[in-house]
Amino acid sequence: MTRKPLIAGNWKMNATHLEAIQMVQKLSYRLDPDDYERVDVAVFPAFTALRSAQTVIETDHLAISLGAQDVDWRAQGAFTGAVSAPMLAALGVRFVIVGHSERRAVFGDTEAEVGKKTRAVVEGGMTPIVAVGESLEQRDAGHTTSVITSQLRAGVKGLESDAVARSVIAYEPVWAIGTGRTADPDTASEAIAALRDEIASSHGDGAAAAVRILYGGSVNPGNIAAFMAKRQIDGALVGGASLDPDQFAAVIRYWI
Ligand code: 13P
Repeated sequence: MTRKPLIAGNWKMNATHLEAIQMVQKLSYRLDPDDYERVDVAVFPAFTALRSAQTVIETDHLAISLGAQDVDWRAQGAFTGAVSAPMLAALGVRFVIVGHSERRAVFGDTEAEVGKKTRAVVEGGMTPIVAVGESLEQRDAGHTTSVITSQLRAGVKGLESDAVARSVIAYEPVWAIGTGRTADPDTASEAIAALRDEIASSHGDGAAAAVRILYGGSVNPGNIAAFMAKRQIDGALVGGASLDPDQFAAVIRYWI
């Protein structure tokens, strides 16, 4: 089973729609057709910039996928401020991150809500990126595997095996996000192997062999190659380094 690497740039709450247009254009100038053959590339602007990014991608026929950083699990109704999966799908969004640690910690997203979001994304015809990760206290207490497998179980609950096979999981240890402190590639690889085992037990060996599992947390051009050298690691979810097109292009072209 060969899994095509995915390098995803989570811009978080950065970039206006005007800045987003420039960022997508600059990124595209730095990539060649061969790069897209080797790696799937996706950017995750804020909701307000999705339409502008979509327009650039479609007008310039770019092989860059559009992603959203979050979604509400309800389809429509009196939920002020919320954005639904059908709204994202209508903008050409292909990937949606659910369960990012910032959503869990800052906005209080629960494991059960993350599961509902995942199902809404799949029902909307898009691909969820289910993010999981332990805090430093949980790691120090030796609870990493139980924490991340529990988050994953809840995150993919109720999905059919073929939907899980097409999904993406992101292992992002909370202590490595935005800190400049990465998990070492062996540690990340072990955690990802545990997540793959969990999928094998819940959804079968086929889904486990097919599902792409990314590493995230302080990925940059200097450390990406060491992560990508690991058989278990199928790509990266990149925060800070994805805001600079030069750096993000260098992460995408990790073999150079
Ligand atoms: P950094 O790459 O800035 O550490 O962020 C990682 C992340 O949270 C991506 O979703």
